[in-house]
Amino acid sequence: MAYSALMRVMVEAARKAGRSLSRDFGEVQNLQVSMKGPGDYVSQADRKAEEIIFTELSRARPGYSFLMEERGVVEGDDAQHRWIVDPLDGTTNFLHGIPIFAVSIALERQGQLQAALVYNPAMDELYTAERGGGAFMNDRRLRVAGRTKLTDSVIGTGIPHLGRGHHGNALIELRNVMGEVSGIRRMGAAALDLAYVAAGRLDGFWESGLSPWDMAAGLLLVREAGGFASDREGGQEMFDTGTVVAGNETIHRVLLRQLRKPLSPRPA
Ligand code: IPD
Ligand code: CA
Ligand code: CA
Ligand code: CA
Repeated sequence: MAYSALMRVMVEAARKAGRSLSRDFGEVQNLQVSMKGPGDYVSQADRKAEEIIFTELSRARPGYSFLMEERGVVEGDDAQHRWIVDPLDGTTNFLHGIPIFAVSIALERQGQLQAALVYNPAMDELYTAERGGGAFMNDRRLRVAGRTKLTDSVIGTGIPHLGRGHHGNALIELRNVMGEVSGIRRMGAAALDLAYVAAGRLDGFWESGLSPWDMAAGLLLVREAGGFASDREGGQEMFDTGTVVAGNETIHRVLLRQLRKPLSPRPA
């Protein structure tokens, strides 16, 4: 795959962080783990991967700003460019030995998503996209799935865990969708969920309570694979609302409608 100079920088950072994560994945029992809040863990593996990405990206593009899950905001001299980084999306999976986790890196230019990368080192699947250039998994061009009926669709979601709140809404949404679809998946890594929508593995995805680093790269992947992504109201305030709904044009529209319905009767 012939990557642009920018994407080569991102791929190098992600692969290096991925190697660190893979090493730690085999030694999970020896990792220091702390709690940021109820049900919200961070480990040495998260911090090491973030350090690697920060060092690599800062060296290659000095002055760019950062928004990172663990370090937070790092202001650079260059106000036009901002990296949005989740060094380990799917920490809970990682700490339980479930190989569904990823590095997520996005670059914004003047507030617009320009480049995206999601990398699952356990499966060596590297998802990349640049604005206007299409989306890829390794060297394969991606296209969202073509199914147009919710009844044929497999839809990904996230279920808020301990300490997250909004359980009531999530249950109503889940109830409204699960009775209408062929299957629901809760994989535990939002960046990968969106990458799977881009790859046509999932027909759609929705989740609330997300942060920009969970979704930034995935949003561009979905769009560059011909899909649609919005907040829960159909607008583009995903970062501010923490909500995402994604799919091909039809599934996206139907999912939005289904999610906003009042509670459906309990499925038989
Ligand atoms: C989490 C994952 C999970 C989602 C949570 C996120 P983390 O990210 O993306 O799928 O349901 O809301 O916080 O903490 O593992 O990077
Ligand atoms: Ca986290
Ligand atoms: Ca995350
Ligand atoms: Ca994370």
